[in-house]
Amino acid sequence: MFWIIGVILFGVLCAGYLWRSNRNLPPGPWGVPIFGYLPWLNPTEPYKTLTALASKYGPIYSIQMGKHFAVVMSDPTLVRMALARNELADRTNFEVVNEIMQEHGLIFTHGPLWKEQRKFVCNWLKVIGVTKFGDKKNNLQLLIADAVSTTISKLRQSNNRPIDTGTFFLVHIGDFINLIVLGKAWPEDDPNWIYLRNLAEDGSKKFAIATPLSVLPILKIIPKYRNTVFEVIEGVKNTHLIYKTLMEKRGNEIHESDDLMAMFMKEMTKRKNDKDSHYFTEKQCCFLLSDLFGAGVETTVNTLRWFLLYMALNQEIQNDLQKLLDSACTDGGLIGLEQIESIPLLKACVSETMRLRPVAPSGIPRSVNTEITISGYRIPKGTMVLPLQWAMHHDEKYWTDPETFRPKRFLDDEGNMINHKAFMPFQAGKRACVGDTLSYWILYLFGANIIHNFNVSAEQGLSEKEINTIMDGEFGITLSPATHKVVFKSRI
Ligand code: HEM
Ligand SMILES: *[C@@H]1O[C@H](CO)[C@@H](O)[C@H](O)[C@H]1NC(C)=O
Repeated sequence: MFWIIGVILFGVLCAGYLWRSNRNLPPGPWGVPIFGYLPWLNPTEPYKTLTALASKYGPIYSIQMGKHFAVVMSDPTLVRMALARNELADRTNFEVVNEIMQEHGLIFTHGPLWKEQRKFVCNWLKVIGVTKFGDKKNNLQLLIADAVSTTISKLRQSNNRPIDTGTFFLVHIGDFINLIVLGKAWPEDDPNWIYLRNLAEDGSKKFAIATPLSVLPILKIIPKYRNTVFEVIEGVKNTHLIYKTLMEKRGNEIHESDDLMAMFMKEMTKRKNDKDSHYFTEKQCCFLLSDLFGAGVETTVNTLRWFLLYMALNQEIQNDLQKLLDSACTDGGLIGLEQIESIPLLKACVSETMRLRPVAPSGIPRSVNTEITISGYRIPKGTMVLPLQWAMHHDEKYWTDPETFRPKRFLDDEGNMINHKAFMPFQAGKRACVGDTLSYWILYLFGANIIHNFNVSAEQGLSEKEINTIMDGEFGITLSPATHKVVFKSRI
């Protein structure tokens, strides 16, 4: 019996190998039918398995992930070149994602809808002040500074009690993102805001359960999976109900407002009598608003948490920063972006954090919409392309002692910031993150002012093993530190 199965399996594997080499596809490991290589992927740290495969098969290799044929790239020049191509401007077509997102919003859309909505969002960011300089930039900076002030006074009230940074920063960064996206920040105990925060905290766990579904849609027959998808869809529906109620309450005031909801509503009105209203519908508005909240909050919150952990574990670097911040802050107020320009070490610490713990270690996948050739290999239409951030950010070719937190590697001899081609937390090309500049501003302003005001340290008495567990992190929608607490001790 077993030898029959053995022979069949062997036959399938050989066929797979011949199939691949005949068709000039990138090299890669063999897999089994239906599952492909999935059984060998580390379920909690898949990006590490994928990185190990890159050292075996090279900077471009192929791998079958359940239903999806994927190409994994880990050479920075190759990745930048590939991501810039129009043929790679789409996202992978996952059934479960389509079921939840209904091809609305921005992150998971494609074609004319994506093009139009992306342009709209980029323009909105300029309108609210994500620009090189000017009054609008200053106003936006003041909005972030408000959130930073509130955060600092809350941290002072903590009186050295250890704080769960996940729950804490979700409130304060979430408030700021709500303000620019919905034109409204709720009181912390508002039931709608509590509901949305719980969804955000739960989302990562639900997503971890739903991930196998994206590559193995057949798992839908198992109740655990079906129910999770159902719960996610319920969450989306309820979120949109909250947004719609807000939309209905808004009157003429939207004409003076520039939050995303107001801008979208104005565009809807403008196009009402147009026969090409395009995609400016109420449904699209709701999906777009939740996409922006989803993309903007968890990413920045988790990066800030990683940053504070690295500060807590590297007290010398923290002290160096504090000295620089003390001399930059002469008036006792908050430290602004302009002062931060003169403290490249702060920027380097943020970049080094994102290098070591990128929130998207496996990369956010793209999909090939027209067959192309890359590095002499044929990449068929529909292939999922993974720009493997983890491999690029930890490659010894580009970083000496890649596992060490060493912010100075981002500074040249004169102390100015250096761009590293292997550093790609926001990816690259036409579909790169639209929020990169805004993210840096949030991280710089929160990071600098917290370190200026407090001595940050890990909870007392953690063993090395516990610290390692925290720092290995948990991979859900994003890579976040394992649950932990941080102590903030006032120093000024
Ligand atoms: C540390 C913070 C952040 C990181 C590391 C990050 C990273 C990423 C990455 C890797 C992608 C995929 C890009 C690609 O396919 O090439 C992405 C897409 C996106 N990000 Fe971010 N992001 C961050 C913060 C933000 C913020 C604050 C916003 C909103 C203001 C935002 C909005 C978006 C949107 C809308 C997309 C989808 C773009 C598209 O599909 O056209 N992100 N982000
Ligand atoms: C903060 O840390 C520095 C250096 O470790 C130390 O000298 C200082 O006393 C600390 N301040 C407080 C208020 O704990």
